[in-house]
Amino acid sequence: MERVRFTREMEATIHRTSSGTGTTDRRGEHPVLVGSRVTVRALHASDAASLAVHLTAPEVARFIAAPPATVEGFERFIRRKSLQGTDAKTVWFAITLNGTDSAIGIIQIRELEPRFQVAEWGFALASAFWGTGVFMEAASLVLEFAFEQLGVHRLEARAAVRNGRGGRALQKVGAVQEGVLRKAFLKDGRYLDQVMYSIVAEDWRASRETRRMAEPSVIH
Ligand SMILES: CC(C)(COP(=O)(O)OP(=O)(O)OC[C@H]1O[C@@H](n2cnc3c(N)ncnc32)[C@H](O)[C@@H]1OP(=O)(O)O)[C@@H](O)C(=O)NCCC(=O)NCCS
Repeated sequence: MERVRFTREMEATIHRTSSGTGTTDRRGEHPVLVGSRVTVRALHASDAASLAVHLTAPEVARFIAAPPATVEGFERFIRRKSLQGTDAKTVWFAITLNGTDSAIGIIQIRELEPRFQVAEWGFALASAFWGTGVFMEAASLVLEFAFEQLGVHRLEARAAVRNGRGGRALQKVGAVQEGVLRKAFLKDGRYLDQVMYSIVAEDWRASRETRRMAEPSVIH
């Protein structure tokens, strides 16, 4: 087991697999990322009920691909993802608060180029937790995993131009706006323009050093 220190407030405990190429939870090959308030782990079938409530809320679903409409649909979805195991081209994470095991959001990383060198991420969080810092912490844990464990060099994200909150959240974690993809996302029968954002590994590492240097020093 290796502990990776990000900031004084946030630490991630990464359980390495024997192959050393990934991390694992007790149910199989998957990272478990533990921060000061948030744990990010594999999706479990038991997450279906809470995710079905949180992710189908209109304010959450407004700018994302339509989630399954029912608990059973979520269960089937999670089962399909679990069956893909280590061959999966997408890594799915459930966001939970430390001390609870209830999934309050998801983050996914999808491979676009071999070995995840170029990948795309997406995320959604229960609206009761918007503005609380939960997303920022979960995103930082997953970004650290993506760039330092998974080997991502460039991580893309697409956010609908009209999704000001999603776009701002991306900028807060260091994503840079690159351009507008016209009529790129079909939502509720209408094509929406999307903004392409990216984070590259060098920038992530540089911003991590900046954040570390900005931390107040401890005076004994
Ligand atoms: C995207 C999401 C995970 C972000 O989590 P969050 O807790 O809302 O994020 P934060 O509150 O840390 O950051 C959002 C920022 O957007 C700002 N914001 C809110 N509405 C905004 C708007 N209409 N235009 C621009 N910025 C806006 C907030 O003020 C905040 O910035 P600040 O911290 O500088 O004040 C969450 O909002 C969500 O699940 N949205 C629905 C799903 C979704 O859109 N997914 C993203 C697809 S790209």
